[in-house]
Formats: sequence, C-alpha cells, structure tokens
Amino acid sequence: MTLMPNILGVKNMNGKIEVEHLSKTFKKGNVQAVKDVSFTVDEGEFFAFLGPNGAGKSTTVQILTTLLNATGGKATVAGHDVIREPEKVRKYIGVALQETGVDPDLTGREMIELQASIFGFDKSSAQARANELLNIVQLEEAAERRIGNYSGGMRRRLDLALTLVNEPKILFLDEPTTGLDPSNRMAIWKELQRLNEELGTTIFLTTQYLEEADSLAHRISIINDGEIVATGTPKELKAQIGNDLITFTFPSKDIQSQAATIMESYMGEKEVIEQNGKLLVYVDDGTKQMLELVRLLDQEQVEVETVNLSSPTLDDIFLKITAKEVGGVGHGE
Ligand SMILES: Nc1ncnc2c1ncn2[C@@H]1O[C@H](COP(=O)(O)OP(=O)(O)OP(=O)(O)O)[C@@H](O)[C@H]1O
Ligand SMILES: [Mg+2]
Repeated sequence: MTLMPNILGVKNMNGKIEVEHLSKTFKKGNVQAVKDVSFTVDEGEFFAFLGPNGAGKSTTVQILTTLLNATGGKATVAGHDVIREPEKVRKYIGVALQETGVDPDLTGREMIELQASIFGFDKSSAQARANELLNIVQLEEAAERRIGNYSGGMRRRLDLALTLVNEPKILFLDEPTTGLDPSNRMAIWKELQRLNEELGTTIFLTTQYLEEADSLAHRISIINDGEIVATGTPKELKAQIGNDLITFTFPSKDIQSQAATIMESYMGEKEVIEQNGKLLVYVDDGTKQMLELVRLLDQEQVEVETVNLSSPTLDDIFLKITAKEVGGVGHGE
C-alpha cells in the first residue's frame, strides 16, 4: 500500500530494542532519573512502559531515540548503538514525544509534506504520502487548517502521522493518549494495533494508564522512580500477585487500623495494603481466605462494613508492587 520506495532498506533491518544497565543522572539537581534499567523488546512486539509522573519514562524514550545521552549502560535500537550510531538509529525509528515542536502556522498537510521532504521524498511522493497518512489518522477534513487551531486530539493524530512518514520499523510513543477523550483514545489504540499487527511495527509506548497497557501491550515493564519493578505479560503480572483480591472497608479509621494489625499477623505485613480507606488483601484462593479473614475479625470482635472479592486489575498490581518497593504500606499513617 505504501508509495514510498524502499530506499531505507526498512524491510531488511532488525526491529529489536536491547537495553542493558541503562542509567541517567541529570547534573541539575543530581536527579537519578533512570537507574540500571535493562530490558529487550523483540521485533514486532508491542511493549508498554508503565509508570507514574516522574518515573523516568520520557528520559528513557529520549535516550533510546538518540535525543539524550545516557550516563551509564548501553542501548541498541534496530541493531545500532544509540550513542555510537545515532544517525543510523534515527533512520529506522518514528518518534512521538510528549512535548512536540510543530510550527503552528503550517497546515497539517504542509507539516506532513515537510517531514517527508526531510526524509528525502521528492515533491510528488511527499504529496502522495501526506494524502495516505491524512486518511490513516482521519485528518482529511482538517488538512488545510493551521495546526495552531487543532484540538488536542487532532494534534495527537497529526503527531502519529508524522511518526509514520518513513514507515518506521520501530515506533516510540511517549504517552500518546494522555489528555485525550475516550473516542480519540480509542482511535489511536486502533491505529497502533493495526500498525503492530498488519505491518509488524515494533512499538514502544509509555503510559500512565494501566488499562491502556493491559489492552495494547504484549509485555509490560512497570517503572517507578527510575527502576523497573516488574516485567511480564499482562496475564503474568496479574498472576504474580495472587489470583484474587479481597477488599475490606470498616466503619472507622481506628477499627481499620485494628483490623490491619490482626490481618497482618495472620497474612504477613506485605500482603495487606491500606489504600483510600480500604484494606486490600491479595490471595490465591479468595473464597476460602475471605471466609477465614471474616471469621478471624469476627472472633476479635472487629466490625467489618463491607467485604468484596474480585480479580486484580493492573491498577491493583501497580499499587501492590510499588507498595512492596517501599517495604509495605503501613496502617494508621
Ligand atoms: N532535563 C532535566 N534536568 C533535570 N532533571 C530532569 C530533566 N528531565 C527530567 N528530569 C527529572 O527526571 C525524573 C524523570 O523524569 P521523566 O520526564 O523521565 O519522567 P516521566 O516518567 O516521563 O514522567 P511524566 O509521566 O510526568 O511524563 C524526574 O524527577 C524529572 O524531574
Ligand atoms: Mg514523560
């Protein structure tokens, strides 16, 4: 379907990302933004880097896309070292950064054509590629409008189109759906899935949305405070922490603290997490354990308000893993 000649040899190169002991310390403020991070993304894989604000996601993306130098470790993208061969890496990747610099006076179409000319397209191939991409990201109607007047969703779709100009084998997307409404988010998800499935594009996506990583990614690494705290398929991450989640609420904070102490002495401290006025307990056999815990609390005359059994979501996993990292969230803060 592409009109672009295969001058870059895109189809023949490897779409892998290999990262070993990568670190980045910013001199300013002596911030260790990335700490000894290692992971591999296979060719054709959809990989998500999931983490909260300030976790080190953008810093990692900037290193892998040759925009920032690491202070330690090694990374190869598409078979090329990001420090020693940055221009080779850049040829084969598409990047949509969190903060993009596009000229607000250009129209969407002009911006895509400009990007195409940077990649060596002649005028008519650039025009053809722009038509194709405007159609893919559904910006045909807005194509002749100034980018400065685009909505947030339109801007993200234009960003995506710009990353696709050179048919990259590997696509880096830094929080591509943050701030979008559900329908725009779904449109981006659909397009990313199509790129991954139909063209075999390797995708490295960062997100703060657990739901996004869960629905899109083959594998997820959870990054917190510069460190990878867990890696696995969505299924593996869910299995890692127990099959079932029991959620308790209590009539008062004091009663909750009392219950937490009792449950911790029974379950172990790290298995009981206090969050938003609830006690969460991760277990393998939810039905059996729920009955035992309720019986135990009843024995101690601790009044339970509600108790609920569910399967953990990625949100729960994230909470549990990051809570573990700080040695368990204590009760009665
Ligand atoms: N140029 C810089 N100079 C100094 N510190 C920086 C710089 N860029 C990032 N940092 C710090 O490095 C840490 C990681 O930042 P980073 O932008 O990688 O996080 P993030 O996971 O992308 O967060 P967000 O979800 O908010 O985008 C933060 O503590 C941040 O303040
Ligand atoms: Mg960021």
